[in-house]
Amino acid sequence: MPSPVFDIQPVGRFNGESEPVKRPKEFAFFSYDDKHEFHLDDSSLQWYYPPRLGADLSKGFETFDKHDESIDEHLDSLLKTIAAREKEEWKKIDANIVTWRGMMTKIMSAPFEDRDGFEMNATLYHDCIFIEESYEFKQFSKDQQSKQQRGRRGQFSPEVMTYWGYKFETLSCLPRPWGEVSREFIENRDERVVSNKAQYCSVVRTGIGKTVLCLGGEVDAKTLTWDVPSVVWDSKPTQKGAPINWIELKTSAEIRDDRGMNNFERKLMKFWIQSFLLGVPRIIVGFRSQGGILTKLEEIQTASIPETAAKRGVRSWNANVCINFASEFLDWLRNTINDEGVWRIRRRAGSSVIEIFKVEEVGHGSILTEEFINWRIKL
Ligand code: A3P
Ligand code: MG
Ligand code: MG
Repeated sequence: MPSPVFDIQPVGRFNGESEPVKRPKEFAFFSYDDKHEFHLDDSSLQWYYPPRLGADLSKGFETFDKHDESIDEHLDSLLKTIAAREKEEWKKIDANIVTWRGMMTKIMSAPFEDRDGFEMNATLYHDCIFIEESYEFKQFSKDQQSKQQRGRRGQFSPEVMTYWGYKFETLSCLPRPWGEVSREFIENRDERVVSNKAQYCSVVRTGIGKTVLCLGGEVDAKTLTWDVPSVVWDSKPTQKGAPINWIELKTSAEIRDDRGMNNFERKLMKFWIQSFLLGVPRIIVGFRSQGGILTKLEEIQTASIPETAAKRGVRSWNANVCINFASEFLDWLRNTINDEGVWRIRRRAGSSVIEIFKVEEVGHGSILTEEFINWRIKL
């Protein structure tokens, strides 16, 4: 029997007013420390403080303390955090889907991004679908990506260019709010060893259309100032409280011509989706020269991105289409994954469909931990 497929094309059918979206609310969090060990606290939360312009983002590459990505982390940390929260309330969370924010970013951007494709594993447990990235696919696409980048023969290796993003974070963050950190520390950030092992991860409850989602994802930093608008794009008037003053940090090449502008506008879609899903209200973009020198900072309100893109007549993507596509796709996914076992969600690079098929008849593969299942059995 052919596997069920969901047509991405024609994307025109997802135009029009957006389906309702729930404003993401953080209900739990965790940290990885500088050895990438898990802690159920906010110890790795960082605070934004503007970096010095003119910094060389390549500096310190030789001492980069890089996280070993060859280990498959599945959903382990997210499940630990969810179970801890459930134990406090002695109640299951009410989400229809649990996954990393990165998986939802791939789904939401699917109508306008077909270069890379994706593969995920999913399993149904206690009326909720748990989705992880397929490890084999992740390794495969990393290889592909670095081959492509090497093929371009730029001045810098792909590894150095990836380092720029983490260096920018180190130059822009403090371990505590600026009033509690010495002047010396702030001025010497350029000397600090750059590491991507530590992370603060937020776990939010959010919703797209009829689907309630529990998403976990890294938040780069927090800021003290409170001049962020409290009205989030397209949120319904039921919202209580204000969003947390999170900051997403991004680097991008300086915009030098129309082509550069088009590239940046395309990148803004990913920036928007990533921050929209966790409810991060602003993005600080560090523009860099071809040679990796930090030349300019720009602050962007996440909520203003779709409107600005529409006003500028951007043709490469549309926010309502992303939301409406995700809403319909998630309805279909929930109808399709209706039975035990492990399922694969796959979009091949360049394909206009997403397929779902079963890869294991029973059980939950490695998606769920024994620890999580043992906890849920008690409930
Ligand atoms: P930039 O985004 O500034 O390039 P994030 O922005 O999601 O917080 O990620 C931090 C950094 O991790 C990125 O900085 C980039 O250097 C690296 N990174 C994240 N996703 C990546 C990917 N798919 N490929 C290569 N590098 C990536
Ligand atoms: Mg990050
Ligand atoms: Mg970032």
